[in-house]
Amino acid sequence: MTQRADLRVAVIGSGRMGADHVRRIQQTIKGARVTAVVDVDAERAKRVAAPIDGCTVSTDPLAALAADDVDAVLIASPGPAHEATLLAALERDLPVLCEKPLTPDAASALRVLEAEQALGHRRIQVGFMRRYDAEYVRLKALLRTGQLGRPLMVHNRHRNVASPPFFTSAMLISDSVAHEVDATRWLLGHEITAVTVLRPAPSANAPDHLLDPQFVVLETDGGALSDVEIFVNCGFGYQVQAEVVCERGTARIGDGHALVTHMAARWGGTIAQDYTERFADAYDREVQAWVDATRRGEVTGPGTWDGYAAAAVCEAGVRALEEGGRVTVELVDKPALYR
Ligand code: NAI
Repeated sequence: MTQRADLRVAVIGSGRMGADHVRRIQQTIKGARVTAVVDVDAERAKRVAAPIDGCTVSTDPLAALAADDVDAVLIASPGPAHEATLLAALERDLPVLCEKPLTPDAASALRVLEAEQALGHRRIQVGFMRRYDAEYVRLKALLRTGQLGRPLMVHNRHRNVASPPFFTSAMLISDSVAHEVDATRWLLGHEITAVTVLRPAPSANAPDHLLDPQFVVLETDGGALSDVEIFVNCGFGYQVQAEVVCERGTARIGDGHALVTHMAARWGGTIAQDYTERFADAYDREVQAWVDATRRGEVTGPGTWDGYAAAAVCEAGVRALEEGGRVTVELVDKPALYR
């Protein structure tokens, strides 16, 4: 791609994440601007695009991708809508930042993987933003030094204040644990080979029928275990914590100790209330890195293979939840494009 003053981005889906990304690109990120906002809800798209001079509004993602003033696409529609937009973007050889999940299941993710391979070069970055969080980056860098020895186990905690009304028991895995699936693969450099899901009696604060919390055990091809407590109606805050236990020591992130107060015979701090607060800096760095790489004609972040692997693990996780027992993960051979 020729270097331009600004990367002209079409944002597909202008709900919570899409609107936040539009604001981010317009106000925080350098080197990009939003030229199109697309949403099946035309009024919502209009509202989000209103402050941006010359920004077009539409309800049709494919028409937006065909526009002359669009160089790249940020997809923030719901997961089931991603595949059609991804395939259309690849057909036009447009760079994409696609919010997680790449697609909701392994078969559709594989279709996207095959389309990108047919194109012959990588075009898609997947929105696994924890790879851009300062604490996760430090943890990964420490593991890489080898000082702690070989990682044996990862203990993850992922808690939300309350789940949205449409949340299902399967979504605790496919929407929430999806992040720990990617974080585990990235931190350890392993693929996940099997998933087991255990569940205590649900919390009385969970909506009826929601199996919340759940305890997920991921096994890796490097012989490590990664467990995830997922609890989406914990009531008190948004917490993401990870502790890696290695042969010679442990390393832990997510305790939220950035500001600790001592007052009136007590000590304490505050707990973030949602991901837009906890991961605000990570989203900024993620989108900036995508813009910078795209303007250089590169893809540097988590890609289609990572999205496919996560989809396959989550699919196995949902089966483990629904059928019980240990479910193995079947991945196709990793194509050369992603090695
Ligand atoms: P949302 O429901 O707030 O927004 C989705 C928007 O997409 C809505 O405005 C809807 O009208 C629109 N839409 C639906 N179908 C569409 C289509 N075919 N074409 C264009 N627009 C369409 O959802 P939210 O929370 O913003 O999630 C969007 C994506 O972001 C999902 O893939 C979700 O998993 C992901 N997400 C990622 C997070 C992260 O931390 N990386 C956090 C929350 C969500």
